[in-house]
Amino acid sequence: MYCKKQCNGNIKNKVIVITGASSGIGAATARKLIQLGAKVVLAARREDQLQAMVKEMGDNSIYVKTDVSKRADVDNLIRQAISRFGHVDVLWNNAGIMPISFFDEGLVEEWDKMIDINIKGVLYGINAVLPYMLERGQGHILATSSVGGLKTSPGIGVYSGTKFAVRAIMETLREEVAQTIKVTTIYPGATQSELGHDITSPKIKALYGNLKNMPKMDEEAIANAVIYAISQPGNINVNEVVLRPLGQTR
Ligand SMILES: NC(=O)c1ccc[n+]([C@@H]2O[C@H](COP(=O)([O-])OP(=O)(O)OC[C@H]3O[C@@H](n4cnc5c(N)ncnc54)[C@H](OP(=O)(O)O)[C@@H]3O)[C@@H](O)[C@H]2O)c1
Repeated sequence: MYCKKQCNGNIKNKVIVITGASSGIGAATARKLIQLGAKVVLAARREDQLQAMVKEMGDNSIYVKTDVSKRADVDNLIRQAISRFGHVDVLWNNAGIMPISFFDEGLVEEWDKMIDINIKGVLYGINAVLPYMLERGQGHILATSSVGGLKTSPGIGVYSGTKFAVRAIMETLREEVAQTIKVTTIYPGATQSELGHDITSPKIKALYGNLKNMPKMDEEAIANAVIYAISQPGNINVNEVVLRPLGQTR
């Protein structure tokens, strides 16, 4: 509601590229942004999901099938966005996976995937868009870290490590480009989404049995935070937003 009334002016016609837009937090935010008059470029790997979203969202949206762990795909994403809409105002590096496990389970291939998607994906996004934004003299880069990027606990070491890395990368970026480019890092707590669908660890699955009833936010809560950051006046740079559902202690 807040944003329907007050954010429209600063969102309308902005060209916003979202990675991880095929489900969860990214998809919910894309839908809200379209309603506020943005032009939205959806990126993820599942083409069927993206196609259905563009059909639903209309002419102000396109999708670009993108694997953020592939540098060429991310470069292509930014090129396609500029080609369709003329420029890019905002890139939100949101794609991420969370196949968590304990170290003694040795699920090294899953560690590699988290590093490639959660860290390198963010770096490739920054690399693809930053020279363009600096030349244009404006722009906004966001990334999704996690409360796991502020605190860790047993069983989330590698995921948490990737999200600490996102925090370090984004804070350094902010310091380097603070004269010209807005930089925002979002730190969500537990949120409804498909995250964790790829967990294979027996230890974590046993643990999740106990966590089933943990409090979770709707994706909309994160969408509102992202819209708050994007809709600020030109001289306001919202750097960090941390959100947890009431009842989440960690
Ligand atoms: N839900 C939570 O509790 C929570 C809490 C803190 C932080 N987060 C962070 O929020 C972000 C969004 O997650 P979510 O909760 O919305 O989960 P989700 O529903 O699983 O969404 C993850 C998105 O990332 C995309 N993705 C995964 N690998 C990709 C790749 N290689 N290339 C491009 N896109 C890829 C997925 O699309 P495809 O599979 O189609 O590629 C999907 O659109 C993640 O960075 C996650 O770590 C979530």
